[in-house]
This record gives sequence, C-alpha cells and structure tokens, in this order.
Amino acid sequence: MTIKLALAGVGNCASVLVQGLKYYSGEERKGLWHPNVAGFKPKDIQVVAAFDIDSRKVGLELSKAVFAPPNVAKKYLPMPKGRVTVRGGISRGDVAPHLGGVKLEKVGSDDVSKALEDSGADLLVNMVSSGCNTSTEEYARVALRAGCGFINCTPSLALKNNKLVADFQRAQLPLVGDDLMSQFGGTIFHKGLLGLMVKRGIKVSKSYQLDVGGGSETLNTIDEGIKMAKRGVKTSSVAEEVPYKFETIAGTTDYVDYMGNDRTSYFWFQGSTFMGSGLTVDVYLRSSDGANAGNVLFDVIRATYRCMKVGKLGTVGEICAYGFKSPPKLMRFEDAFTKFSALYVR
Ligand SMILES: NC(=O)c1ccc[n+]([C@@H]2O[C@H](COP(=O)([O-])OP(=O)(O)OC[C@H]3O[C@@H](n4cnc5c(N)ncnc54)[C@H](O)[C@@H]3O)[C@@H](O)[C@H]2O)c1
Repeated sequence: MTIKLALAGVGNCASVLVQGLKYYSGEERKGLWHPNVAGFKPKDIQVVAAFDIDSRKVGLELSKAVFAPPNVAKKYLPMPKGRVTVRGGISRGDVAPHLGGVKLEKVGSDDVSKALEDSGADLLVNMVSSGCNTSTEEYARVALRAGCGFINCTPSLALKNNKLVADFQRAQLPLVGDDLMSQFGGTIFHKGLLGLMVKRGIKVSKSYQLDVGGGSETLNTIDEGIKMAKRGVKTSSVAEEVPYKFETIAGTTDYVDYMGNDRTSYFWFQGSTFMGSGLTVDVYLRSSDGANAGNVLFDVIRATYRCMKVGKLGTVGEICAYGFKSPPKLMRFEDAFTKFSALYVR
C-alpha cells in the first residue's frame, strides 16, 4: 500500500521531506528514528502533487523546485527527476512577508481540489509560510472536498476552528496539527529541561527561549503579528511541562540571512531549591530546521494514514499531541510519546 501525499508549500521543510523520501527509499536506516510506524516504512510514502505560489518554484519538477530560491535547505543527495510538477496554489490575501515583490502564481480552490482528486492524494500536508491563516483554512476545506486528510504543520490554528473540526469528523477524515514540533528543536528541548527540573524538585520561576535563524520562515516570523502568534503557540506548549504558573517566553527574535536553514536557540532558566538557594541554567542549541522536521513528519504521515484507513479517527488526538506544539489537548511530552508509541510504533 502506498501513502499518496500532496504538499502545500514547497519550502525548506518540503525540501527535506522530499529528499528524505529518496534517502530512505531503500534499506538505509541511518538517522531514521522509527523505521516502522503503523506498519509502514518511509518507502511506502510517495508525493503525487505539490502546490506553491512562488513563481520561482511553480512549473518546476518537484526535485528541482525544492532547491529553487529562496530555499536554503542543504542538498543531502542528488535527486533524480520525478513526475510531479509544482502547480500554482491558493492565496487568500495573506501573502507571506518574504514573498513581497515576488510574482505570484495563484489558482482557484476548484483547481487545487481537482488536482488533488486527479492525483489520488490521500493526505494534504500543509507547509505554507507562517501567518497564512486564511489560506491554510482554505487548503483544509479543499482537502475535505477532495476526500483527503489534512496535516497542518503551520502555526495557523486549524484545530481551534470548531466548524472545520466538525466538518472533518463528519466526513470521517483526519485533521491533524497544529504547528509541527521538531524532533530536537527549541520547543522539545525547552520542554525536556523544564520537565527534568520539575522532576528533580526544582521550583522553576522563570525561563526563556530566544531563537535566531536564517531562511524565509525566520524572515516571516520576525514580522510582529506572526512573531506574537507563533510565540503564543510555543509558550503554551512549553508551559504545559510545569504543573504551576511560572514566567516564560519562547519564540523567534531575529533573522540572520547567512545562517541559512540553521537555527540557534538560547535558553535561560531560573529556579530555586533547598532553603531557597538559587539555580540558573544558560544553554544553547544549534540545529537545522528542515532536517529537524523530517522524522516527526514521517511518523505523523504514517500514523495519520493508518487511522484514516482503518477508521480509527479517535486516535487523531494522540498523533497531534506527539507531533505538534498546539494539539487539541496539550499533553506533557512523555505522556504524548508513550501513547503514540503504544498505538503506532512497532
Ligand atoms: N522544523 C520545521 O521546518 C518546522 C517546524 C515547525 C513548523 N514548521 C512550519 O512549517 C511551515 C513551512 O516551514 P518552512 O521552513 O518550509 O518555510 P519556508 O518559508 O521555507 O516555506 C514555505 C513555502 O510555502 C510557500 N507558500 C506561501 N504561501 C503559500 C500558499 N498560499 N500556497 C502555497 N504555498 C505557499 C512559500 O512560497 C514557500 O515555498 C511553516 O509554517 C513553519 O512554521 C516548520
């Protein structure tokens, strides 16, 4: 059985996903977190359609488009020519700041819906820029019309839209999101250290996570409105690890173009212990954004497809809590991981 994917947004995250599918198309397991999820290997996943609005990518074959500017994700391996041409996408007036001045290739929702149906896509993976809230909702609606499940990697809050959630439930299709949580990015690292401090009896009083990166996603995220929305999602996810109120902030603070697809996250923690003695932690994490999404995306795609095919939509919540920063029900990471593993990891 093949899991047929359509991609909305052919940026750095999509570049690494597409390269990863080639890299793991044989027996290679280096760097693969979970070779088997829900009975599927990465080689069972195939991209059958892709949409973007950036004219520098639209019309190109996908294996070329993933390296077209302004993408900066590393080229991990030579990519053979495939059969998917990037098509124009939906835009509802929420054009990302990094696309200012760029010629856009927009099409109607019906064109995207028809392309999804013609391609036989099972799932539409939404990886458009942060801040495209209305376009994200429209992609979800189009997926619904075409009978596809929808995986929302972006911080647009699709799962907080009760009408959309109800419509997916009625259609017996999975709606999964929001805001992908990288395998070892700032959010999970922040959550992990907070969880450890709590477990070791430290009374945490304050913490922050300040991210600096390159790539168009970071450039968009320093836009004040997008920055504050994304900060809200990250901060709530992090706060879930501590069973009492404390002060915390987590989010992107700056863009440095020559960092490419890399990101540095600076963390600071303040707490107290025996007789009120103070304790501080200052650490930083350097990671590569796109690659950090690869394993979690592979896992989420395979689990979502399984729950769609066997009609187990009741487990969508576990997928969301494992793979996303803003699931319908926030969970501590350890609980989410244990539940997801019990259901899906063989
Ligand atoms: N580790 C990760 O990479 C990671 C983690 C969490 C969340 N995300 C989210 O995934 C999304 C993609 O991240 P990225 O780093 O690939 O960003 P990116 O900026 O590299 O790529 C976004 C792509 O979407 C395209 N796009 C913008 N509006 C569109 C529209 N209306 N229709 C179709 N295409 C559109 C852009 O042209 C671009 O190609 C972002 O929303 C980001 O917040 C990524």
